[in-house]
Amino acid sequence: MLIALIVIMLLVLLTAFALWRVVVTQHAVETEVVAGNAAAVGASAGSSSARAASKRSTASTKSDVTKSDVTKSEVSKSGVTTSEVTGLEVARSETLPTFADVGGMESVKEQLRTALLLLLDSSGLAAQYEIDWNGVLLHGAPGVGKTLLARACAGEMKINFVYVSTADVVSKWIGAGPGKVDGAFAFARKHTPCILFFDEFDSIAANRGDEHHVEYRRVTNQLLASLEEYRDERGLVVMAATNAYGELDPAVIRPGRFDRHIEITLPDLEARRAIFAVHLGSRPLADDVDLDELALRTEGWSGARIETACDDVAITCAAEATRISRLVPIAQARLIAAIEA
Ligand SMILES: Nc1ncnc2c1ncn2[C@@H]1O[C@H](COP(=O)(O)OP(=O)(O)OP(=O)(O)O)[C@@H](O)[C@H]1O
Ligand SMILES: [Mg+2]
Repeated sequence: MLIALIVIMLLVLLTAFALWRVVVTQHAVETEVVAGNAAAVGASAGSSSARAASKRSTASTKSDVTKSDVTKSEVSKSGVTTSEVTGLEVARSETLPTFADVGGMESVKEQLRTALLLLLDSSGLAAQYEIDWNGVLLHGAPGVGKTLLARACAGEMKINFVYVSTADVVSKWIGAGPGKVDGAFAFARKHTPCILFFDEFDSIAANRGDEHHVEYRRVTNQLLASLEEYRDERGLVVMAATNAYGELDPAVIRPGRFDRHIEITLPDLEARRAIFAVHLGSRPLADDVDLDELALRTEGWSGARIETACDDVAITCAAEATRISRLVPIAQARLIAAIEA
């Protein structure tokens, strides 16, 4: 009898110890997440260069983000992260570019600002006028700045940003895709106010009539269902971008799904000048650099092409500076040579 009592007491003590260990481990994980966030915010606050912010935005570095896997509510009882939305990350607005980092597109920025203010509805006007917009679809040629602009929308409005690519939602495991789409919406809802951004949208929501893998069709169906389901979700803005507008499923682009379709065109003269300013502004420049001339010489160029030309010249100058141990300013002749190459 006494022995049985001692055994029971030992078991109770062991169980209490095991429970204590679980609580301590959970606390350590949460502390780590908070510390990681603080470091990311601190790192971004230290940067003053608009160009650097723009670069940071496209780099999608791990230090700038919080892994969805470690969000408290997504840690399962066993302490193992759930697979519900594995890999999705939320970027805090401090780490994102703003409209100042996007050269040109002034009227588009204005349209987006107005649309986002209504969609986020901090004034309550959208509710009053019973406006239940769902989102914004950006389309246009490759490299014109659609992805940059989407990130800048979140940075400008000081809200979170969740980036979703095809690989995030179209799984090699048949049947897993729809759950991932639903998971993306649920994850974004947890982090509102937030922009949920689907990049390469033509791959995610391709025309279901085309010869398409059944998994893609299921993903498109779920996307339509989720757009409907989250339509009234204030603070959750759905954005998408594509350079193949014509390949989207007609159901995705019909009125009532994405309420704003905004075409991003190749930059005009003024916009090209502004893009050169963004990508050269914080680099060592010679006095003879003439942005107007550079803009004139790059008609038909996308922002991506302008950025690459600026980067190429910067790399050449930096290499030369290393060789001669002296700063080599970026001169007009070098920029023109890169444009004409
Ligand atoms: N208006 C702009 N101002 C500053 N940089 C720009 C602009 N447009 C494009 N860029 C630069 O060009 C690069 C490509 O831009 P982005 O990825 O946004 O293009 P995209 O339209 O999304 O292209 P794709 O259709 O291929 O996805 C980025 O590094 C971005 O910084
Ligand atoms: Mg893009």
